[in-house]
Amino acid sequence: MGKLRLNGTVELETERCLLRRFKMSDVHEIYANWLSDEDSAKYNAWKVHSSIEVTKGYLAEWIDSYKNNYYLHWAVEDKATKEVIGSVSVSNIKKRKKSCEIGYTIAKKLWNQGRATEVLIRVLDYLTREAGYEKVYALHDIRNEASGRVMEKAGMKFVKNKTQIFLYSNNIIMKCRMYEFNRYGDTPL
Ligand SMILES: CC(C)(COP(=O)(O)OP(=O)(O)OC[C@H]1O[C@@H](n2cnc3c(N)ncnc32)[C@H](O)[C@@H]1OP(=O)(O)O)[C@@H](O)C(=O)NCCC(=O)NCCS
Repeated sequence: MGKLRLNGTVELETERCLLRRFKMSDVHEIYANWLSDEDSAKYNAWKVHSSIEVTKGYLAEWIDSYKNNYYLHWAVEDKATKEVIGSVSVSNIKKRKKSCEIGYTIAKKLWNQGRATEVLIRVLDYLTREAGYEKVYALHDIRNEASGRVMEKAGMKFVKNKTQIFLYSNNIIMKCRMYEFNRYGDTPL
């Protein structure tokens, strides 16, 4: 069992999407497609951005973080239109346990067309077969059934219910369902 291969946010491709690093010029699409949208924020720990200036500040931080080889945060670009239609991020990296947590967003105008599932399958494959992670977790608010469905369709298995407290987001408390993707395909603990 080797070490994690921390190569930073590398380009990945799916049938309809290119997963790549964010650029400052993406700011309008990021703001319009999810960070200004109440429905996108509804079951999540982040609040909608009050202006595009707020988004600009976050985006600059994300781009600066690409200098760290463990930082994984993809812009999801629609290959047909070249528009940034979503994001995938990896957090809670545990190097010794070789585990991490994944989160994703797709623009509301494109919901229910299988895009989140398509992208999640590719990133789970990258994390476990190329980057060396053994377990990838994901959590969704219990009311966010669409997200649970995406996790199931991407081959993740339900582990347990979990109450999450987000200390950096006004101590928001969320009742979540936790899923796991296992490199070896065995069932959760
Ligand atoms: C969750 C989210 C990423 C799904 O993206 P998407 O591209 O629409 O996902 P997919 O099309 O791949 O799959 C959606 C599935 O959920 C199902 N679904 C949609 N709304 C649902 C609902 N209210 N209840 C149950 N299932 C629902 C769809 O029918 C589809 O399943 P199916 O293929 O079996 O029919 C998207 O809604 C989103 O970005 N939400 C805001 C951010 C967010 O909540 N991210 C997840 C954080 S845990």
